[in-house]
Parts: sequence; C-alpha cells; structure tokens
Amino acid sequence: MADSASSLTKDASKAGERVGLKSDKITIHGGKPLRGTVDVRGAKNLVTKAMVAALLGESPSVLQGVPMISDVKIVRDMLGVYGVRVSSPDDGVLVLDPTNVERAHFTEIDALAGASRIPILFCGPLLHRLGEALIPDLGGCRIGDRPIDFHMDALRAFGAIVDKSYEGIRITAPDGLKGANIELPYPSVGATEQVLLTAVRAEGVTELKNAAIEPEIMDLIAVLQKMGAIIWLEPNRTIFIEGVEHLEGYTHRAIFDRNEAASWASAALATGGDIVVKGARQPELMTFLNVFRKVGGKFDVQEDGIRFWHPGGPLSPVQVETDVHPGFMTDWQQPLIVALSQAEGVSVVHETVYENRLGFTSALNEMGADIVVHQDGLESVTRRVPRRKLEQAAVITGPSKLHGADVHVPDLRGGFSYLIAALAAEGTSTVSNLGIISRGYEGFVEKLEGLGADFEFAG
Ligand code: EPZ
Repeated sequence: MADSASSLTKDASKAGERVGLKSDKITIHGGKPLRGTVDVRGAKNLVTKAMVAALLGESPSVLQGVPMISDVKIVRDMLGVYGVRVSSPDDGVLVLDPTNVERAHFTEIDALAGASRIPILFCGPLLHRLGEALIPDLGGCRIGDRPIDFHMDALRAFGAIVDKSYEGIRITAPDGLKGANIELPYPSVGATEQVLLTAVRAEGVTELKNAAIEPEIMDLIAVLQKMGAIIWLEPNRTIFIEGVEHLEGYTHRAIFDRNEAASWASAALATGGDIVVKGARQPELMTFLNVFRKVGGKFDVQEDGIRFWHPGGPLSPVQVETDVHPGFMTDWQQPLIVALSQAEGVSVVHETVYENRLGFTSALNEMGADIVVHQDGLESVTRRVPRRKLEQAAVITGPSKLHGADVHVPDLRGGFSYLIAALAAEGTSTVSNLGIISRGYEGFVEKLEGLGADFEFAG
C-alpha cells in the first residue's frame, strides 16, 4: 500500500511527539567535526520484541536498558490496549504486567495501525492467551514491500487459521497451536521471531530451518529461556523449540543497539570527527569494524564502549554486500554511504536484503554526492553473498564536496544519513520529517548537541 507523503509526514510528526521532539524540522550548519561521547542503550530491534514476549508470561517482566524511542512507545500503547499494565519505575526500566490480558476493540488496535511493524509479532502470544489475534495494516520504513508471507505460512504450520479482511488480518487457532517443522525461504528476522514467540507455548517440538541468527534474535532467545522456554540452537541456522505449558516473567537487560552504534561511527568518519560510543561491544560489531577499518577509520575497543575516529588523510573506497548476520547489516549501509562519498575512489554497496533501500541517495546527490543506483544490481567478481534477484547496487564516487540542501527524511536510517550529510556539508541544510528518526535514535538531538553540532530547530 503506497502511503502518501502526507500520511508519512503525519506518522513522523506523531512519532516525534511521542518522545517530545520540539519540531519536525531542523536547520543544520555543517562543516564541523563531531567530537565527544554518546550513550547507546538497548536495541530497538530487541527491546520491542522482548516487550511482546512479556505477553507470554503468567507474571510480570522487567526490561532494562530501554531507550526512549517512539517505536517503544507504540508497542507500550499496543500492549496497553490488550490490558498489559506497563510502568516505568526508573529511567530505562519497564515493568510489564500481563496478568490481566483481555480482548481489545478493533478501533483501539486500528488507531495504532501503520505506526510500526511490531504488531505482526503479537500473533503467537495473543493466540496462546486469547485464541485470536487481529492485526491491522503494518507500518515501518518504506524500504521495500515488507511482505509477511513467511509469517502467515509459519502460523498456518502451527495450525492457525488466517483470514484476511478489510480490517486487516484475523487469526484464530480453534484446535490450539501444535509444534511444526518450518523452513524459511530466507533467514527473515521477523519471521524467526514469529516462530519463536509462537513455538515456546505450542504443544510439542518445533524445528525451524534457515533461521535468522542476529544478536538481537539470540537476545530474544535468552529472554524466552529466562521465562522457562526450552530452545536448542544448532550451528546450521536450525533452531528447535520444545513447547512448554507455562512461562513466567523475565528480568533482562537488553543488548545494545548495534545499528545506532554503527550510525555514530559513520558520523565520525563522514564529519572528520571522534566519537566514543558508550555501550557498544566488539563481538556484535565485528563485520562493521572490518569495513570501518578498510575505509580508513580508527577504532579503539574500551571497557565500556568503542571510540571511533577519522585519523586524517584520505578515506579509501570499499565494496560492501549487505547480508544477514554475521554479514554486513543492511541497516548499516545508509549512514556508511555518506562516509563513502568522502572516500577517494569508487565504492560499491550491494543491497541484497531489501529491494528498495537505496532511494535515499537521491537527496545526497542534491547535496553534491556522486551516487549512481543500479536498480537491477551489479555483477561483481569478488562477490561473497549469493546474488538475489531483487537486489540493487549503489556506486559511490568520491571524494565529493557536500553542500547544504533542504531534505525530507524518507525512512529511519536514511534520515540519520541525512543528518550526517548535513553535518559534513559546507553551508546550511534543513532536514524535515525528523519524527521518523526518533523512532529508533534515542535523544539524537541532545546527542548531536553534545557532539558540538551547530543547528537550531526550524519553525
Ligand atoms: C528486521 O526487519 C529489522 N526491523 C530491520 O531493521 C532489519 O533491516 C531487518 O530485520 C533485517 O535485519 C525490526 O526488527 C523491527 P526481515 P524485518 O524479515 O524483520 C523478506 C531498522 O532500520 N521477507 O529479515 O521486517 C523482506 O522483504 C529496520 O531498524 C519476505 O519476503 O526484516 C526482506 O527482503 C529496517 N517475507 C527480507 O525478507 C516475509 O514474510 C528480510 O526481511 C518476511 C520478510
């Protein structure tokens, strides 16, 4: 469903309001290196799923390291619609009490429709708790079609009945949910989470082949194991889940946000800066660190974070293929491309995960970058990642002198890349539709201020 720009902008400003963003437009005076320290807390792509997992427990859960981002607020509101009492006794701590889960009215669910992709993960827990789930149209970044066929096929494999209606999707499980043998056509993060959140309380054993194994998935498995689940991991992307009768609440500190950490590292490179990212850990960023080093960035792994800096001199071009973990994450390529626009030579980014995640580069070209997108991808002799039919490629020729422009945020990571480009450019830029960035970057305005960025909110 193609959203009109106005509805996207409406969603963005609502997202910004949820976390107190002063305005949806910012004026940035570029040309200054970013220098200082930022704190990165729990990963957007784990915290939101761990919140849904709390629905499966028969007692309250405590989640720590929770960032103040609008995607968390949306999931909190959706849990509230189903009667889950969510409180925040301390900064970064959520207590989720699912003891009074109840049916929700469609109008309440629909009010949150289009704001996030997470509602799709409510299916399994709601089927276990209520015997039915009503899923409205999903939101999330427009970086491709974002189909949910893997999710629906998995739920049917457990014995669920999926009815598509004008309201959305209604799922029931009159005979309960039984363990299943499922093989994913692609190691989808969301579909793997869908299977995990359904299988843990299904009757019998589930075998999941070709599963996603991102660190956020491993952290979700840790959460479920704390609740009482029995989950076996094999080295070949196969996961076995033994269904259990009861699950209890968990206490868990979320894994750090790798995507935010990598975004700040790319910001240091693009602006010639030096940023210490507190909370970042090396093991989960290994592939990013290899590429960061090959481009010419320096990093130092410290006790409580990682320091990323531009050592001076030219940056080097690289060829990158996005992939599932442990490959180079698709979420890392957008901020990195801004840094590659400053490298001396021709870089290539093959986007193999999403079929439409390079559109954001047109605005970078308006700022003076030289990026050509090949809609059908590019052949390359040094490929490591198997070629996918829908992949695209960006060829970035640098170094380009970026100049200010007025840009409109299209999606979460593209939006952050616009902030970096405006900060690296000579002159003044305005970046509008900022609310989308607050979906996944906690306190990004305050963090930019702390790093010496020169900006003011536009009217
Ligand atoms: C998750 O999205 C993340 N979002 C994305 O991060 C991330 O880019 C992506 O995983 C890949 O790592 C959240 O966790 C909320 P997928 P998800 O299912 O689960 C196709 C960010 O910036 N597919 O792994 O939606 C799909 O079209 C966001 O933080 C189907 O075809 O990603 C895509 O091409 C952006 N059918 C590929 O699989 C399905 O049913 C990977 O998607 C599901 C997916």
